[in-house]
Amino acid sequence: MDITQLSVFENRCLVNGEWVSSIEKLAVMNPVDQSYITDVPVLNEEVIEQAIQDADQAQKQWKNVAPNERSRVLRNWFDLLIRHQDELATIMTVEQGKPLKEAKGEIAYAASYIEWFSEEAKRGYGDIVPSASNSEILVFKEAVGVCAAITPWNFPAAMITRKAAPALAAGCSIIIKPASETPLTALAIAKLGAQAGIPHGVLNVVIGSSAKIGQILTTHPLIKKVSFTGSTEIGAQLMAQSAQTVKKMSLELGGNAPVLVFNSANLDQAVQGVMDTKFRNAGQTCVCANRIYVQSDIYDSFIDKLKVKVEQLKLGNGLDADTDIGPLINRKAILKVEEHIADALAKGAVLVTGKTHNIEGNWCVPTLVKDVRQDMLCAKEETFGPFAPIFKFECEEDVLDMSNDTEFGLASYVFTQDLNQFIRVARGLEYGMVGINTGLISNAAAPFGGVKSSGIGREGSKYGMDEYLEIKYVCLGNIS
Ligand code: SIN
Repeated sequence: MDITQLSVFENRCLVNGEWVSSIEKLAVMNPVDQSYITDVPVLNEEVIEQAIQDADQAQKQWKNVAPNERSRVLRNWFDLLIRHQDELATIMTVEQGKPLKEAKGEIAYAASYIEWFSEEAKRGYGDIVPSASNSEILVFKEAVGVCAAITPWNFPAAMITRKAAPALAAGCSIIIKPASETPLTALAIAKLGAQAGIPHGVLNVVIGSSAKIGQILTTHPLIKKVSFTGSTEIGAQLMAQSAQTVKKMSLELGGNAPVLVFNSANLDQAVQGVMDTKFRNAGQTCVCANRIYVQSDIYDSFIDKLKVKVEQLKLGNGLDADTDIGPLINRKAILKVEEHIADALAKGAVLVTGKTHNIEGNWCVPTLVKDVRQDMLCAKEETFGPFAPIFKFECEEDVLDMSNDTEFGLASYVFTQDLNQFIRVARGLEYGMVGINTGLISNAAAPFGGVKSSGIGREGSKYGMDEYLEIKYVCLGNIS
C-alpha cells in the first residue's frame, strides 16, 4: 500500500502555517516488515524556537476569537477527520501496525474529542461568588497560553486530538511533538486542521529528537503548559524539567490495570471484557488488562472459555480484513513481552495457550498463562503486549490488596453481578478509572486519567477544558 499517494498524506512539519522541511531526516518504517515508508524532517533548535515565538503571537489573536467561532473551526476539523477516516486509518495502520478496523475506530475516537470540545468551547463559564464583604467576587477563566503536547505511538491520532482540541477550544495555541514512530498520522491530522481554518501558528507539529525537543518545550518560558502521554519514567523527567518555569502539567502515564472477575460474574461478559481490554491494539494501551484476577469457584471455567477466544485471534498484517492482532511496534516491545512470559513460567506459572519462543520480526502470539503470582515480573510492570496472566484469588479483601499493590493507578476493571460488591470494590480500588462489567471505558465525554504514578490531570469530559484554562479572581470592591 503506497500511502504517499493519499490526499491527506504529508511528510513535512507544520510551523506557523508553513510546511517545513529540513536537511536532516528521520525514516518512518512499517512495523509489519520494517520496510521504509518515507522520511520526515528533524527540526533544529532554531526552528523550534521560532515555532514557539510564532505560536505565542498566534495565541494572542486566537484567545480573542469568539468562542462560537473557535467552536465552528473545530467542528470543521471534526467533519474533515470523519470525511477522511479511511485514508487516515490506512496511514495509521501502515506506520503503527494496528488492524485497519481498529485504526478506523481510533480515527472516530480521535474525532469525537474534537467534536466534544467544539461544543465545550462555548462553555468556558466563570463564576460570580457571593461575598460577605461589600464587594463582588468574579471568577474568569482564561486560556493558559502556548501549550506543548508530547504524544505516543500507540494512539497516533486520539492522543493528539484529546490534547489539541481542548487547548484550541480554550483559546490556547499548541505545539505537538508526535512520537518518532508515528509522525504521519499526526501530520495528516494537522493538514486537515489547516484545511478546517485553524489559523497559522495555532496548531503546529514539530518532529525531531525527543530528548532535545522535550528539553526545549519543558524549559521555554513561553510554553505555559505541557501535556504528555507516555511512560512514568519520561513523564517524571518532563515534570522535573518543567519545574524551573513552573508549568501547568497533564501527565497520562503508565498503567498496570487489574481485572477482578468475581464468582458472581456473568462469565461470557467477563471473558469478552477481558478480550476487549487485553487485546485492543495488541495489548499496547495504558489501560490494557495487565493482571487478571479470577475468583476460585470460576477459575477453571473462566480460563477454558478465555482460551477458546484467545486461540481464535488472527495475527497478521493490519491491512488484511481478518487481522485481529497486528505486529508490535518494534523488537524492544517483543523482548519485554517475552521477558514477562519467561519470568512467569520460570517461577512456576503454567502455559495455557500461546508461544513462548522467539519468532522473527515484530510478531507476538497472544499468550495465556495461569497460576501467576504477585512476585512475578508481570504483576509489577506494564507488559504492553498480548500476554494475559491469570491469578487465582479467594476473597474480596485479598484481591483488593493485590490490585492496589502497585505504584500505578490508571484503569481497573471489575466483573460482578453483586450490586453491593461493585460499589464496595469501585470505592476500594486506588485507580483513576474503574470499568464495571465492561472492558471498554474510553469515551470523549468521560474524565480519562490516573492517580499515583499513573499521572495527574484529566483528559476529555467537562473537566478536560480546565487543564487549558487559568482561573482569574477579580474583586470588585466598595459596592454601595
Ligand atoms: C492510552 O493507552 O494511553 C490511551 C488509551 C485510550 O484512550 O483508550
